[in-house]
Amino acid sequence: MAVIWVFLYVLHHIQDEAVDKSNFKECNQIAFYRRQKLLRPGKSLYRALLDTVSLSDENVKFQISHEENKVLLQVEIYEIEGNIFRLKINEAAPLRARYEVPDVLIKEPTTQKLSMSQKEGGVLVLANVNEDYKLRVTANPFQIELQFKDETVLSMNSNGLLYFEHLQPPPSDGNPTAENEEAAGDSSKDNQEDLGLWQEKFGSFLDIKAHGPSSVGMDFSLHGFDHLYGIPQHTESLLLKNTSDGDAYRLYNLDIFGHKIHDKIGIYGSVPLLIAHKPDRTLGIFWLNSSETLVDINTKAVAEHIPTESAADISKQRAVPLTDVRWMSESGIIDVFLLMGPTAFDIFKQFAQLTGTQALPPLFSLGYHQCRWNYEDEQDVKAVDAGFDEHDIPYDVIWLDIEHTDGKRYFTWDKKKFQNPKRMQELLRKKKRKLVVIVDPHIKADPMYTLYSQGKEKGYFVKDRNGKDFEGICWPGSSYYLDFTNPEVRKWYADQFAFKTYKGSTNILFVWNDMNEPSVFKGAELTMQKDAVHYNNWEHRELHNLYGFYQQMATAEGLIKRSSGKERPFVLTRSFFAGSQKYGAVWTGDNTAEWSYLKISIPMLLTISMAGISFCGADVGGFIGDPEPELLVRWYQAGAYQPFFRGHSNMKSKRREPWLFGEKNTQIIREAIRERYVLLPYLYTLFYRAHTEAEPVMRPLWIEFPEKLETFGVEDEYMLGNALLVYPVTDKEAKAVSVLLPGLKEVWYDFRKFKRMEDQGTLKIPVTLENIPIFQRGGTVIPLKTAAGKSTEWMTNISYELRVALNTEACAVGELYLDDGHSFQYLHKKQFLYRKFTFHKNILSSSCTDESGQYRTTCVVERVIFLGLGQQPTLVTACSKGGKEKEVVFTHDTKTAVLILENLALRVDSDWEICIK
Ligand code: NOJ
Repeated sequence: MAVIWVFLYVLHHIQDEAVDKSNFKECNQIAFYRRQKLLRPGKSLYRALLDTVSLSDENVKFQISHEENKVLLQVEIYEIEGNIFRLKINEAAPLRARYEVPDVLIKEPTTQKLSMSQKEGGVLVLANVNEDYKLRVTANPFQIELQFKDETVLSMNSNGLLYFEHLQPPPSDGNPTAENEEAAGDSSKDNQEDLGLWQEKFGSFLDIKAHGPSSVGMDFSLHGFDHLYGIPQHTESLLLKNTSDGDAYRLYNLDIFGHKIHDKIGIYGSVPLLIAHKPDRTLGIFWLNSSETLVDINTKAVAEHIPTESAADISKQRAVPLTDVRWMSESGIIDVFLLMGPTAFDIFKQFAQLTGTQALPPLFSLGYHQCRWNYEDEQDVKAVDAGFDEHDIPYDVIWLDIEHTDGKRYFTWDKKKFQNPKRMQELLRKKKRKLVVIVDPHIKADPMYTLYSQGKEKGYFVKDRNGKDFEGICWPGSSYYLDFTNPEVRKWYADQFAFKTYKGSTNILFVWNDMNEPSVFKGAELTMQKDAVHYNNWEHRELHNLYGFYQQMATAEGLIKRSSGKERPFVLTRSFFAGSQKYGAVWTGDNTAEWSYLKISIPMLLTISMAGISFCGADVGGFIGDPEPELLVRWYQAGAYQPFFRGHSNMKSKRREPWLFGEKNTQIIREAIRERYVLLPYLYTLFYRAHTEAEPVMRPLWIEFPEKLETFGVEDEYMLGNALLVYPVTDKEAKAVSVLLPGLKEVWYDFRKFKRMEDQGTLKIPVTLENIPIFQRGGTVIPLKTAAGKSTEWMTNISYELRVALNTEACAVGELYLDDGHSFQYLHKKQFLYRKFTFHKNILSSSCTDESGQYRTTCVVERVIFLGLGQQPTLVTACSKGGKEKEVVFTHDTKTAVLILENLALRVDSDWEICIK
């Protein structure tokens, strides 16, 4: 039977079939959603018991009670350092502990004492330390308003949608009657085939809820906001859309092969962080819950009185936007963080303060990755590797998919195809390149396979509801799933990556975690049954969205451990959750080789980036099917300017190495990849900023131009850092594109032709197949390499170029971060170099940004190109610190206002000045 399932699944994959929607639930087929939706907006039945209020250094606590079922809930409100509030709601006396998401918060947040300024007349008013925020708790009906300087920013439960199903003893006959159906929730009459609330059916799957219904939900009203972003991952537009009944955004990690675009169903990964923006404020709602979650959004205009001079005139009104957001989760507690910004960059910092920042990637992983399901054997790997050299195309990593293993037993090699994996890796090492292999979470049921026998013996697999090891079908056929939620399992798994344990592995081998939603071919919605049981007896339903997070965590730990803590890991994961950024990179899964998928990849990556995961990418070329050459070329051009850059294709897709599409296309792809390599100093610096300051590498325009309404919905172009505006061409045979160059006071330059753009606003830019439009923002300095090499490691000594683009004040600033590119010495031994370039009053100076950095390099800045420097210089001199002033030969074009300085030989690691007279 298992063999048939695998066969059917593989067939489905390789035949490029469209998704069979009937395998997946519509919202209306989700029982807790239907139950919660029976509660309509109105007066909440919850009432705060203000006589229970207690105030401590840590938080303010009080109870609320439901008017009908009288169950008491405990409310806790915290102020967290850095403009964050936390609201926790749990049962005051639950029958058993409810799941609280562990391991996602990097530490217990530092709280600040709230003060109580009023507790009478049915109102409790709390103020933060700075006394600029107030939390106004109304007792009856229970609701909380969050005000900034007396203006309401956000209110909670103002639509009365707080919903909390308290835990109850199981019905005595195991088959609940209509009576206990009604008792379980707030207003919960479920209509699913009389199964009651303790069971749920989907197709042939029966989910038995060991602890009964336990869903939670609440509404938030965002005052003045009508632009919402975040909650990846969906194949949707950047701006979140209004949902209608049955069309909520779903956060439930699923493996949907051939998924459609513009769909709100959850795919692969979930980050329950929603961001709302208006010109003067950005705010975030982080709903920390790892069970299946649905989010309803409804933006409307409400009438607001305009304050007028005359007290008599009360008739003037204006329409202001108000967005209602309703979160609904199947289980757990309500634990929500309100990130108060006020800027988008503050939100990113606040989220990182809770969940961590992007791990600093090893430099090689920012190069180009060549993947395919599958590179057949050692010979194939050798040939593809040689192909890159032959065609003079840089690349850093070749990838091996599932077929490299001995019968899908991860950590092993197919003995025929990969007879000598170490020899293969030595060849790659000589070429200064790396290997990535796939390691999935399912373990083949084979007593001769150590991972299986040990896993079984030690009790490391997830259990089914009857206490037996949970058996599912995946690539190897009958499989078992490691319970990564158990710290002991994670440690054991991490140890599997030790060189002596993982035979044939070397330190140039890195890892790809796939199918970790987890994908279970014969499972409900192709994933694990929710009634499976994990460590500490938690049902899978509680933590479903965390499974992949934990696998990547264990894998990254394994790679660090095998190097005795010295080397940075690289782990790509398909499934993710809030905080996955700490462990590596993610990609958007099985996209299709069609123009529309290239187009949607931009908002999808922007959304993931805003949710803290900067290191993200989409399969270049589209995984499923065969891209026409033009699409492939366009995809390379887009991917070259996105954080994770990997070409990948399905088993049935035709071979797609970059040189297989004729000389002209090869040349264009070569150029795109080389542009990527030349850009690496800038990109690596951006990753350092992501790592230290939580700034997303790839960002929507509105983040850089938060007051410019026209940028709020832009999703066909984006900023890479603050300096580059990228417009990937995503239409077939495009002859021109409409690019928005925002900002009245901004100056923009064509990044390739150096030409200053005459206008801002939306410009029609002619395009050819050769490249995509890229613009540099005036006021920035971008560090580049003067040439690309065969791989990042070949480029260490290649000199630098600086692109200095002047703003209206004839100034510019920029940075360069540098270290050894692979170890943790930057952290432990301060082996880094962090430089700042400033152009001011016609002097470009290079200075140190962080004096503690110890890293040295003999590399030099060889070339500087000034854009927007109209005045013909009479003399240009360069002077290193303590050295003599030297005259520099220059070329200047008054018409284009470009000044080029060559052969400079100014050390990257020292201070110097270039003076233009
Ligand atoms: C599904 C992944 O999304 C895809 O990238 C991979 O090639 C296949 N699994 C086979 O491992």
